[in-house]
Amino acid sequence: MQTTWTSPSLTFSYVTLEDLTPISEMLTKETVCRWLFFGPNLPEVTHAYFLPFLDENALALAEDRLPSNFVFTIRNRKTKAFIGQCALIADEFSPGAYLVGYQIDDPFWNKGIGSEAVTFLIWFAFRIAGAYRLNADTAAGNQGSARVLEKGGFVPEGRQRKYWHARGGYHDRLLFGLLTEEVKEDVLATLDRLFS
Ligand SMILES: CC(C)(COP(=O)(O)OP(=O)(O)OC[C@H]1O[C@@H](n2cnc3c(N)ncnc32)[C@H](O)[C@@H]1OP(=O)(O)O)[C@@H](O)C(=O)NCCC(=O)NCCS
Repeated sequence: MQTTWTSPSLTFSYVTLEDLTPISEMLTKETVCRWLFFGPNLPEVTHAYFLPFLDENALALAEDRLPSNFVFTIRNRKTKAFIGQCALIADEFSPGAYLVGYQIDDPFWNKGIGSEAVTFLIWFAFRIAGAYRLNADTAAGNQGSARVLEKGGFVPEGRQRKYWHARGGYHDRLLFGLLTEEVKEDVLATLDRLFS
């Protein structure tokens, strides 16, 4: 079963044990966690969060089926250097709906990688995972996150005022969604050539 997908410059691989150290290091950073509802985390907290996904991946691989959730590590295709992670987390009450998530480590911001990660998640969700809907949300101050969602074609679906009380302030939550019928077949066909 395929566990790694590539674009010309990046690889997206199901998360493995060796990825937990760089992911944990990334999630200790104030910069990366500034707009997240979690973190900065101690490494053991991040390990404890990700370990069930590793177990689930191992079981799915043994049973030759797709995992229920898709958690990817993003690396530079050529150097294999760690860049970040992205994920599709299944909505347990609505089969076929997934929450998208993405964290790019701070040395790699503003290079188009967040946009590419969201594009990859859209392609994977609608081409491979059989999704009918993607959910996304972000703190209103996280302009980079809102922008990568807009660029990916996510539709704004609302604003929850003062949704988060964190880091000394109140933060509105922006809601986004994307339905399978909103992604044109010719766009997916182009992405079929980009991701393999
Ligand atoms: C948010 C995040 C994913 C953006 O990733 P990135 O790789 O820097 O984004 P890109 O380089 O693809 O930039 C996409 C667009 O967003 C804009 N952008 C990125 N960061 C921005 C910021 N801090 N403020 C305003 N605009 C920003 C870019 O200018 C670009 O716009 P354009 O294409 O119109 O020129 C990244 O900063 C990150 O991982 N942050 C920490 C974790 C996080 O907040 N994750 C999202 C949780 S909801």
